[in-house]
Amino acid sequence: MIFQNKHILLCITGGIAAYKSVELLRLLKKAGAGVTVIMTESAKKFVGITTFEVLSENPVLSDLYFDTEASVKHIDLAKRADAVVVAPATANTIAKLAAGIADNALTTTLLAVTCPVMVCPSMNTDMYQNLRVQRNLDILEKDGWHILDPDSGVLACKTTGAGRLPEPWFIADRIEAMLTRKDLKGKRVLISAGPTVEAIDPVRYVSNHSSGKMGYAIAKAAEKRGAEVTLVSGPVHLETPVGVERINIETCDEMAARMLSYLNDADIIIKVAAVADYKPVDPKSGKIKKKAGNTELILNMVENPDILKLIGERKTKKQFLVGFAAETEDLEKNAALKIKKKNLDMIAANLVGSKDSGFKADTNKVKLIFKDGSSLDIPLMEKEELANILIDTILEKMR
Ligand SMILES: Cc1cc2nc3c(=O)[nH]c(=O)nc-3n(C[C@H](O)[C@H](O)[C@H](O)COP(=O)(O)O)c2cc1C
Repeated sequence: MIFQNKHILLCITGGIAAYKSVELLRLLKKAGAGVTVIMTESAKKFVGITTFEVLSENPVLSDLYFDTEASVKHIDLAKRADAVVVAPATANTIAKLAAGIADNALTTTLLAVTCPVMVCPSMNTDMYQNLRVQRNLDILEKDGWHILDPDSGVLACKTTGAGRLPEPWFIADRIEAMLTRKDLKGKRVLISAGPTVEAIDPVRYVSNHSSGKMGYAIAKAAEKRGAEVTLVSGPVHLETPVGVERINIETCDEMAARMLSYLNDADIIIKVAAVADYKPVDPKSGKIKKKAGNTELILNMVENPDILKLIGERKTKKQFLVGFAAETEDLEKNAALKIKKKNLDMIAANLVGSKDSGFKADTNKVKLIFKDGSSLDIPLMEKEELANILIDTILEKMR
């Protein structure tokens, strides 16, 4: 959402990683951004401008003196830009930017921009570690520009070390973070997500259909808004959101121990995980064999700790506790009862069972119920968008 109606200047310099900028451009466009590409003369030796013009649907700016009669192109672009990303950034261009040199379309435009700028250095490891390059990056950072550290690995020059341009999805993610308001700065957010898994024997288990998508969307949104986020997660098939500390657990007991150990430091606790209410009393150490003639197998279960209740009992007045209630019936009645019983500040209640809401879906529809009895209906929307609305609501209630 953040990229909608935003204009981004994608500045490309003459490094071997220039080919990755094609994918970065594609991702930014797909996310809804308008993009203008600026290339140095050296950059054009690595990737041709046609690809960038077609994908960006805009002319590439490379020659400062082209078409000057119609407008002062670089100043127009600088004024219109909501964000600038220099990817890849060569040692040469980094040095020019740090010194304030304006000798081509890219460096001249960057002297005129007032929006946030991200520089993504990419070069051979010895070049990257060179004192002059480091000094120039320090200058840019102290001036308020964002420097994205390069990845480590095998480089095009066959050496191994720091200097590789991060993957395009990662750069796009960090541009999104750069553009997001930091209204959770200084706050610690503790989130649980995904299912728990309780062993029956070494090969079988009791679990549920939670995909973890809602909890991960909240973790991702909170990190982008400046929070320090800890995500206690059951087994899911999702990437850890960038910048989030993820703690993997399997059982309810493990989740309870981890949540309680992080509780004191947290300002906001959001329990999205679908925790098994019961676990097998006596998980077998060997595989349970099928016995001839046995048509039934009785599994004795025992109650798991109620993590939300334990947190509710320990939480201080300054902490804000949110629970999720997935119900198949009597949604509001059950949610209101849960708020009282577990000392919650807010509950996000949703009906599971429909395809576009609840477990596994990318969208969700919830009713937010507060401890004073008031409520707010949130219509069906993407879980990522809902995550931001939840955070807005929590911040408003905390104020
Ligand atoms: C094959 C090749 C690969 C290069 N790769 C890089 C690179 O990854 N990073 C870098 O800083 N310079 C690299 N250079 C050097 C730059 O192209 C050179 O410093 C150039 O002047 C940069 O110009 P620009 O900053 O205006 O784009 C490479 C040069 C060649 C010939």
